[in-house]
Amino acid sequence: MIRDMIPTVQKPMPDIYRNRSDQEYDEGIAQAKKRLGKDLVIMGHHYQRDDVIRFADFTGDSLELARIAEKQKRAQYIVFCGVHFMAESADILTGEEQAVILPDMKAGCSMADMADLEELEEAWDVIQEELGDTVIPVTYVNSTAAIKAFVGRHGGTTCTSTNAKGVLEWAFTRKKRILFLPDQHLGRNTAYAMGIPLEQMAVWNQVEGVWEEEKGPKEDWRVLLWKGHCSVHTKFTLDQIEKIRKQDPKTRVIVHPECTFDVVQASDDNGSTSYIIRRIQEAPSGSKWAVGTEVNLVQRLAHQHPDQEIRLLSETMCPCLTMNRIDRPHLLWTLESLVEGRIINQVSVDEDTTHWAKTALDRMLSIG
Ligand code: 13P
Ligand code: SF4
Repeated sequence: MIRDMIPTVQKPMPDIYRNRSDQEYDEGIAQAKKRLGKDLVIMGHHYQRDDVIRFADFTGDSLELARIAEKQKRAQYIVFCGVHFMAESADILTGEEQAVILPDMKAGCSMADMADLEELEEAWDVIQEELGDTVIPVTYVNSTAAIKAFVGRHGGTTCTSTNAKGVLEWAFTRKKRILFLPDQHLGRNTAYAMGIPLEQMAVWNQVEGVWEEEKGPKEDWRVLLWKGHCSVHTKFTLDQIEKIRKQDPKTRVIVHPECTFDVVQASDDNGSTSYIIRRIQEAPSGSKWAVGTEVNLVQRLAHQHPDQEIRLLSETMCPCLTMNRIDRPHLLWTLESLVEGRIINQVSVDEDTTHWAKTALDRMLSIG
């Protein structure tokens, strides 16, 4: 687990990086960026704070960032403003001589932490015993490199919220059943949208080691869902949608597919972060939206489209606390260290894990 690794991989940030003015941070980052020139690429996920993402050379959703990382052949340093699993994927997809840096190693993902290798190996043994060789594993990219490697070793692949449907279609051409981890909601929402009824799904509770939500007979199961979730997206509720429908039926509700089944069913549309951005960009002036995803992105969209009414679906803030750990002090610290010739907070995946995790990621990238 990432949190167990933190003390060994990240030294505390020196005090000189704290309590500077906005201008000092901005100038410091811009200067370090200039000095590093083509040796540096900064990548940023859509959930990053405004004051950080403005320094990114590339922004995107998880799939776009993985594709962009794969294309970076020149940069010696890739500073990844996102969460740990994204930086791991970038390390796996880039060359050995390139260093991927996460400005704050505590920027993990609570969902990725919900699946560890030992639990997966135990689940796999149960699955093989009860269902035989009928199952292919598919992991959402929001998982550790070790989980991706397991999946790669067992003939499976990764997916993101953009390509989950295409990946599941591919997986069903290989095996009768799919083990989908770690996000039960993305798995359920995607499979249901493909026409698979809930009776053909079951949830594996990895903590108790038991099946749950068995709505149909075991021989009919087609999608085995890991009991993981996103703590940000599960805060959006059916009540919030019903309230909006009553207040203003013209407001369109758009959510990320990490939201629960009920929420996705009740919404007007759902998709990845880039999909949500595109839908709003394409909407006519005067459109009204309630958006069920991370608050930084929703606030940025509201700011960028003053001619539309854009609000967060929930009345309380929904920040991804780990994404928000990447801030200007940490960005400046990592960049100035690079200028001084020191690589800090490097995310480095071992050779064997890289080989098999890359197998899984490459399969995904070739599927689409
Ligand atoms: P996207 O691939 O849609 O950007 O999602 C990443 C993520 O972590 C959502 O919580
Ligand atoms: Fe992980 Fe949820 Fe944050 Fe996305 S929003 S990085 S799934 S905790």
